[in-house]
Amino acid sequence: MSMMNRRDLLRALAVATAAGPAAYATPLTLYRGPVQFKHGVASGDPGPHDVVLWTRVTPQGDAKHGDVAVDLEIALDPAFREGNRLLPGLRAVASRDYTLKHVLRNLQQGTDYYYRFHSQGSTSPTGRIRTLPQGEVDSLRFAVASCALWSSGYFHAYDAIANMEGLDAVFHLGDYIYEYGSAAGDYGMRIGNRIGRMPEPAHRLQSLADYRQRHAQYKSDQQLQRAHACAPWITVWDDHELANNSWHSGDEATEEEDSAPWNAKKIAALRAYYEWMPIREPLANDRQSAACRSFRFGDLLELFMVESRLTGRDRALDYKQDLQWDGDQPDTASFQALLENPAREMLGAWQTDWLRQSLSQSVAAGVNWQVLGNQVLMARVAAPSVRSAMPARLWEELLGRLSGPQRERVLRNELLSAHDIPSNLDSWDGYPAARSRVYDAIREANARVVALAGDTHMFWANELWDDQGRQRVAVELATTSLTSPSYGDYLPEAPIGTAMAARSREVIYNDPKSKGYLDITFDRNHVTASFISMSSVTEKDYTASTTAQFTARRDDGKGQVGGVVATAATGPDRGAVARGPASMT
Ligand SMILES: [Fe+2]
Repeated sequence: MSMMNRRDLLRALAVATAAGPAAYATPLTLYRGPVQFKHGVASGDPGPHDVVLWTRVTPQGDAKHGDVAVDLEIALDPAFREGNRLLPGLRAVASRDYTLKHVLRNLQQGTDYYYRFHSQGSTSPTGRIRTLPQGEVDSLRFAVASCALWSSGYFHAYDAIANMEGLDAVFHLGDYIYEYGSAAGDYGMRIGNRIGRMPEPAHRLQSLADYRQRHAQYKSDQQLQRAHACAPWITVWDDHELANNSWHSGDEATEEEDSAPWNAKKIAALRAYYEWMPIREPLANDRQSAACRSFRFGDLLELFMVESRLTGRDRALDYKQDLQWDGDQPDTASFQALLENPAREMLGAWQTDWLRQSLSQSVAAGVNWQVLGNQVLMARVAAPSVRSAMPARLWEELLGRLSGPQRERVLRNELLSAHDIPSNLDSWDGYPAARSRVYDAIREANARVVALAGDTHMFWANELWDDQGRQRVAVELATTSLTSPSYGDYLPEAPIGTAMAARSREVIYNDPKSKGYLDITFDRNHVTASFISMSSVTEKDYTASTTAQFTARRDDGKGQVGGVVATAATGPDRGAVARGPASMT
C-alpha cells in the first residue's frame, strides 16, 4: 500500500468510527440497571472541528448483559448553561469492556467546550476540551508526560498538570501503564510494598482481561482522572503498554520463534489500549499504524506523532549478546558494524516516508514549528563516567552500597564510557541509520524541529546534530517519568547529570533523578520548556516546582532551529548545565 493510500485510509477510518451509536451492532437487549462512572472522562486527538470523547460505565447489577445507553451533554461553560446541547443514545459497549468512545463533530475551531455523560440517573465528572485553532496563533502551551509506574509512587504530576492554566493539550509519550506484577522482585515493588500501591492483577499482564484490569486500575486514580478531564490528550504507546523492550516481532520475554503467544499478547494489549484510551480508532488489523498521525495548531505548530515500537522496529542490540570481548577490551569495531547496518529500522519505510512528506507539507504551508511526538531519546549519548566526576573516596563508598545488578550496570557504564558506543541501545542511538533517515527528512524539508521524548526517566535538553557533527538538525526536550525509578535514584549522590553532559556533545542538560513532567510553551520565536519536578512521589502531599528551564529560539538565517539556551537551572544534585548558551550556526 502506498503511503498516501494508507493516510487516506486512516482518514477514512476516523470517519467510519465517528458515526456514534449507529456504528455499533445493536444488541438484543440494553442493560437498564444502575451504573457508576468510576473511571472518569477523557478526550483526545482534537481536530479543528471534532474531538474523541471517552468514558466508561460500571454496571452495578449482577446480570450485566447488553450495552448501556449513555447521553452526552456539552456546553461552552463548566456549569452547562451556555450553548448547552444533549446527544442522547450513545453506547457504552459491553464487548468493549463497557467503554464508550465517540467522535464529537461540528465544533468551532480553537474553542473550549465542557462535557459530561449521563446514564441511568448517574452523571460523570466534567471534562474540558479545546479544539485545534486555525489561522494565526500567537502561543500554545502543552504538558508532556511519560512513564507512570503504579507501584513506584503517586501520580502527583498528573494532578499538577490538571492545575495548569490555559493548556492546549497533553502529550503522553508512552508507558502510560506498566505490565509488571506485584511480586517482591517486580519493578517498583520496593516502593509499592512500602506505600501500599499494589498493581492489579498481581501477575504480569498476558491476556485481554489482564490488560483491561490494569487500565481500569490506572483510570481509578483520581489524579489521573483530573489530568484527563483538564484537556485533550494526544497519546502513543511505548513498550510497557505491551511488554518491556518490545519490537515488531517480540519483546524481552519472548523469542521470535515463539511468535504465536506474542502476537496474541500484542493484540490483547492494543485492543485494551484502544478501548481505554481517548485515541481515534484504527482500521481492523492495522492498530499500530493508527498511532502515527499529525495535528496542526494553526500556523504556529504541527505535531507529528510517530510509532517507534511495533510498526517497523527491529530487535534492539544487547551488549551482553552482541558485544564481543578481546580479554578485557570490547570489540567496538564489530559492534559498530552491527549497529550501523542500514537495514535496521526504527519507524519502518512507510512511516519514514509519511514523516518526510508531512514535514515538507507543513513547511510549505508556512507552519512555524514542527514537533516530533516520539517515544525514545534521539540524541547521541555515550555512557557517562561518573567515577571521573567525583572524588575517589566517595566513588568507592557509593559502589559499596550498591546491590549486585546495580553495581554491574554502573561498572559496565564506566568501562563503556572510554569508548564511542551508545549507552542506551533501546533508544534511537541503537538505530543510527534509521535516525539518519529521519534527519535527512528534516533537512530536506528545511523544518524547524523540536523533538520530544520520554522513556528514560530523566529530564534532558539536547541538541541533535547530523552524522558529521556539522549541522544542527533539531533540539530535543525529553521528559522524565511520573514515578518510574531511574539511574539517579540508586546513585543519589553521584553527579550523573554533569557526567552525562560532559561526556556527550549533544547533551546540554540532564537531570537523572527528578520525577515530573514538561511544561512547554511555543510562540513565534521561542520554545520554552520548564522541567517541573515533584517534591516527592512517595508522600501523599507534594509540591511542584520548576527545577530547570530552557529556551530554544528560531533561526531565520538558516531556517533551522537555533541553539538550546539555558535561562535557569538548579544545582548539581538535580542536573547540570554543561555549557553556556549554544552558538547559533
Ligand atoms: Fe518507562
